[in-house]
Formats: sequence, C-alpha cells, structure tokens
Amino acid sequence: MTKELKIAIQLSRSEAAKTLSAKGKELAGVKTFLLTSSMAEKGELAVKTTPDIIIIDDSPDAGNILARIRTIRSNFPDVALFLVSENKDPKQIIDVMKAGIAEYLVEPVTEKTLFDAIEEVRAKLANEGKLAQGSIYSFISSKGGVGATVLAANVASSLALDKKSSVALLDMCFQAGDASVLLDIDPTTTMLDISQNIHRLDVSFLRGAMSMHSTGVNFLAAPKNPEDSEEIVSDHVHQVLQLSRKLYDHVILDCASMQVNDCSVEAFNQSDKVFVITDMSVPAIRNTMRLFKLIKKVGISPDRIEIIVNRYIKGGALSLSEIEKNFEKQVYWLVPNDFMDIISSINRGVPLVKSNTSSPFSKNINQFINKIQNKLGDPEFRGIRGTFGKSL
Ligand SMILES: Nc1ncnc2c1ncn2[C@@H]1O[C@H](COP(=O)(O)OP(=O)(O)OP(=O)(O)O)[C@@H](O)[C@H]1O
Ligand SMILES: [Mg+2]
Repeated sequence: MTKELKIAIQLSRSEAAKTLSAKGKELAGVKTFLLTSSMAEKGELAVKTTPDIIIIDDSPDAGNILARIRTIRSNFPDVALFLVSENKDPKQIIDVMKAGIAEYLVEPVTEKTLFDAIEEVRAKLANEGKLAQGSIYSFISSKGGVGATVLAANVASSLALDKKSSVALLDMCFQAGDASVLLDIDPTTTMLDISQNIHRLDVSFLRGAMSMHSTGVNFLAAPKNPEDSEEIVSDHVHQVLQLSRKLYDHVILDCASMQVNDCSVEAFNQSDKVFVITDMSVPAIRNTMRLFKLIKKVGISPDRIEIIVNRYIKGGALSLSEIEKNFEKQVYWLVPNDFMDIISSINRGVPLVKSNTSSPFSKNINQFINKIQNKLGDPEFRGIRGTFGKSL
C-alpha cells in the first residue's frame, strides 16, 4: 500500500486545469494528471488508472452535469468526485451533492479549500485501511539538554526535504517547548487551541493549527504559557496522534526530557519507535537505564525502545562497549558531536540538515532516516565507523 493520492483533473479550461494540477502537486504524496474532454465519462480504459479523486467542472459544453456525475460515479464507484463551479446557487449545490459530488469547490478555489478537501479524502482512505497509516517516532532525552529537540527537528526536516513524504513535527514538551526556536517559527496556534476545541478536531482544524516550515515540515507548537499545559490531557494527545498518522507519512514527537506521564505514555503507546537519547556522560547513561526501565514498565515493548548516543566522540573517556554494558540492548545509533555547526544552525533558526547538508551531523541524520526505514545498505551500520571503516 502506498500513501500517494492520485488526482485526475478534467476541466474545460486547460489553463485552470494546469494551475490546479500544479497546486495539488505542492502537497507531499499527491500525484496529479490531466484528463482531456470526457475521458472520465468513458471510464477506466480511457483514464488508464483508478484515481482517488477526480476533479471536474460544470461547463455547459460538456453536457448535463447531473448525467455526467452519474456516469463518472458508475465508472469509478470508489472515487471522490470534486466539482469546480462559479455557480453558488444552493439548488445546484444540493442537486450535484445528491448525485454524488464529494466536494463542491466554488471558484476561485483557494489553496486552503483545495488542500483541506484533498486531505479529507486522504484521512478517509486511511480510515478505511486503503492507505497506509503514517509512522510515529518519539524522541526523549534521558537528561535535560542531551539533544532530543535537535534530533527530532532535524529528522523531521530531513524527511520533509526529500519532498516524497508528508511530515509533521509535534512539540510534546507542553510545559516548555522550544522546537519552534530551532525552526524559527512564531506560531499563532498551539496544541492548547486543539485541547480547548477538541470536539472540533478534524482534518481542516488540525491542518489549520499547524505552522508550515520552509522545509515542508508541518509543525504543531506547544502552548506558550507553561501553566496552560495542564489543560492538555492524554485523550487529546490520543486523538491528535490518531488523526496525524492518517494525514502524514511521518509524525515526529519531541518529548519532554525524562518525563513519563499520561500524555507521554499515550505518545509512546502510539509510537513505532521511542528513541531515548543520551550523551556519553555518566549521569545521562544512568538516567538512560532508568528511563528505559520506566518506559518498559508502562507497557512499551523493549523492541520498540531504542537508545541513541548523541555527541558521540571516538576515543572519549568511556568506550561504546563500556557504555553498552549498562544497557539492556545494543545502542541503535550514534550521532557525532558537531558543536559549531549545530550552534550556528540554532542561531540562524534553520535546521542543520537544510543549512549545511554536507556537515557530519546532516550526513548522519540522512543515514539515520535510511536506518529507520530499513533502507541502509549495511544494516549493521550505526552512524559512525570505527577504525578501518568497520561498523561500530
Ligand atoms: N550532535 C550534537 N553535536 C553538538 N551539539 C549538540 C548536538 N546535539 C545537541 N547539541 C547541543 O545540545 C543543546 C541541547 O540540545 P536540545 O535542545 O536538543 O536538547 P533537549 O534534550 O531537547 O533539551 P531539553 O531538556 O531542554 O528539552 C543544543 O542547543 C546544542 O547546542
Ligand atoms: Mg528539548
């Protein structure tokens, strides 16, 4: 199953069709193609594929609109049919909706209306099991400041920059979220707005609460005031994550350091992997042991919990094997210490994977993404090579 949505566009004005097609393609995981006159009415043999969405208009030259809708619907029973029209007459709107139009798009069609309508279809298909649901990855530091936010923001950005998949980054540090600083975003809406209006949560509301970053990451910020975090309960986290995994291929969670509470347990429950971040210091290593046990104790299977050593330095006071003796399982990944590059990226508010693709850190994150997607040439590779290029 793929998450790519196929959208066929059959409009009488070819310029309008091209504009709509270009707009649709801006959404990750969307493929658009143009149909020439009445191909949709001729059926699958003419169209050559089964689209998920067909967009038509009601040009009188193309024939009676109700008859056309019925023909297209019988040719493509599962398709979501959108109608673009200048006509705002309620009677026409009711008639075409009854005939089987899923979305009535009044011209000029705004980007928001179009994108929300497309995402609504994506969520519906995911609900019905016809599209794969996205994966969720949590990042949690074993001690304040060891790097969960830097890693989460860069992993999300790197996934989004390849333009092949849609990515959301959720700041789960409800009391003191700072992922927005790394992305240089001043969000107008946050998770608090969702919590306070949870009964309204749907595709359009969730998308509206997100801030779009220049990397293509859809970012949901944490509340601005720490005291507001109390309004967010685990059921809100549950609902937001359920919907997010229907809309996005990858959902990255930047979790609060060392925090295991109802909300973070809900996040871990829904995560494909929970990455516990440590550095090479003794306190962080000790906390990693404790945090690993705690996350296991709340019911997360150990094969979903992985340890990442951040700021790894070859030949440091402790060797990797000495560090690993403390853990229940092998370290999953090592991230190099790249202090100057990271600091300059934080100061500029641009994730390092975007501002400097050739830095050791950026290359490492790109490899990490291959690792989590099982696309690494050498499955043993853990991010940094030892002497003679062997995997550590
Ligand atoms: N791989 C790295 N190389 C060098 N410096 C790093 C690296 N990763 C993180 N840092 C430094 O560590 C600092 C803290 O990182 P970050 O904010 O991601 O930690 P955190 O675990 O999310 O902290 P908090 O507990 O505040 O949420 C960053 O500002 C950056 O300077
Ligand atoms: Mg953080």
